[in-house]
Amino acid sequence: MTSIVLVGFMGSGKTTVAKALQTQSNLPLVDMDQLIINSQGQSISELFERYGESGFRRIETACLRDCLQTSSIISTGGGVVLSSENRQLLNKSTSHIIWLKAEFETMYQRIIADKKNVRPIVVQRTKQELEKIENDRRALYEDVATFIVEVDRLSVNQIVNQIKRNI
Ligand code: S3P
Repeated sequence: MTSIVLVGFMGSGKTTVAKALQTQSNLPLVDMDQLIINSQGQSISELFERYGESGFRRIETACLRDCLQTSSIISTGGGVVLSSENRQLLNKSTSHIIWLKAEFETMYQRIIADKKNVRPIVVQRTKQELEKIENDRRALYEDVATFIVEVDRLSVNQIVNQIKRNI
């Protein structure tokens, strides 16, 4: 299966770019967080509360495995690269794995402005702690990426065009 999989930290624009890509493609759009919310009947915060982060990660791995069975445009959660099992799934797949790479400050401003989606990873963490998490994840995004888009100074259209030119 050949999917287009968007990876990157929270606030890097995965959901927005996936939607824009989908309007120019025949592939279905899959938002992994939304799929998990729909299938579990609980919000991501509720899942973290009830099962802990490790429980959420298990659900996320099952979801990724399923999603990769069908060619689609997949918007992942920012922590999908944390598990080595997920990284293996991504590395083994024939999909295009696109890392939307942004400066931390860009993503941080979007994260704190997004009052409708308060991520459990962000709650009770300082900006510095989040920056460290983001920094630690960079090597993991790089490990799975088949193509990297530096998104800070690009419009959504420009990002989509870069992706389309490189897949
Ligand atoms: C997470 C990112 C979130 C969501 C969950 C955990 C993370 O997705 O999967 O809150 O660990 O970075 P987004 O990147 O879509 O916000």
